[in-house]
Amino acid sequence: MKLLAGNSNRPLAEAIAAYLRVDLTRASVHRFADMEIFVEIQENVRGEDVFIIQSTSYPANDNLMELLVCIDALRRASARRITAVIPYFGYARQDRKPGPRTPISAKLVANLITQAGANRVLTLELHAGQIQGFFDIPVDNLYGAPLMAPDIANNLGPDNVLIVSPDVGGVARARAYAKRIDANLAIIDKRRERAGHSEVMNVIGEVEGRHCVLVDDIVDSGGTLCNAADALLAAGALSVQAYCTHGVLSGGAVARIAASSLDKLVITDSIRPTEGVRVTEKIRVLAVAQLMGEAISRIASESSVSSLFD
Ligand code: R5P
Repeated sequence: MKLLAGNSNRPLAEAIAAYLRVDLTRASVHRFADMEIFVEIQENVRGEDVFIIQSTSYPANDNLMELLVCIDALRRASARRITAVIPYFGYARQDRKPGPRTPISAKLVANLITQAGANRVLTLELHAGQIQGFFDIPVDNLYGAPLMAPDIANNLGPDNVLIVSPDVGGVARARAYAKRIDANLAIIDKRRERAGHSEVMNVIGEVEGRHCVLVDDIVDSGGTLCNAADALLAAGALSVQAYCTHGVLSGGAVARIAASSLDKLVITDSIRPTEGVRVTEKIRVLAVAQLMGEAISRIASESSVSSLFD
């Protein structure tokens, strides 16, 4: 097995390599003056089972292009099998046409990865499970719940905890968390009654006197979580925490979270945490290296990956 690290999240690639007790394959990624990407793999990969680790996080287009260029280099270097390990799969939220004459960019990205020469994909908490079907190569989609649900149980205990989906689209995910820790479920129904009018947050479920835990795949601007936390507290919740697998945290999101009514936000390091994230007391980061590393090891040895979800 060979592990190759892209530049988007090198600390995670190093932690995965340490878990697997292999060295990262020597490679260099250069930029030409016009910012074109050039990749050189500096050791033999002919006939090897190669895993290229790259989150397509900010700057999403550069990191995606770097992934594609690396896959192309590996294919031309005669790697036997190339697995694109994409802890955070960018463009996943563009998984349908929101209106006429709009793209389905998640499908386009799937096509690009496949055409570049990837033989399979390993990813974590896809925004929508059906994105697996955008690929005609095998996709293993890991979940954040096996990592995060025990953390919720350890920190809050099973009593009085309520798992909350911040929108209707996340109900299946929230239900999976609730089942794991034997907690009840509530849902926030976000609705804009009329264009130009502010969002109404309807809380469905008994939240009064409960410690609420919002679960989501992505925290980006932080707006969804902060508004949901306010709605839950207004409905009588005792406290609100949030667990989101991917800390996209764009723009002023970290400051927004820090100033919000959330007690805590827990994310993973699927996206490399910025310095701002690291120093913000309200945000805690869980490591995914062991989960991703174990999945890589099982793919390499052709053993079950789904048993990791149990
Ligand atoms: C949307 O469907 C996703 O699951 C997240 O809820 C969303 O991306 C969060 O975005 P933001 O933090 O900008 O509200």
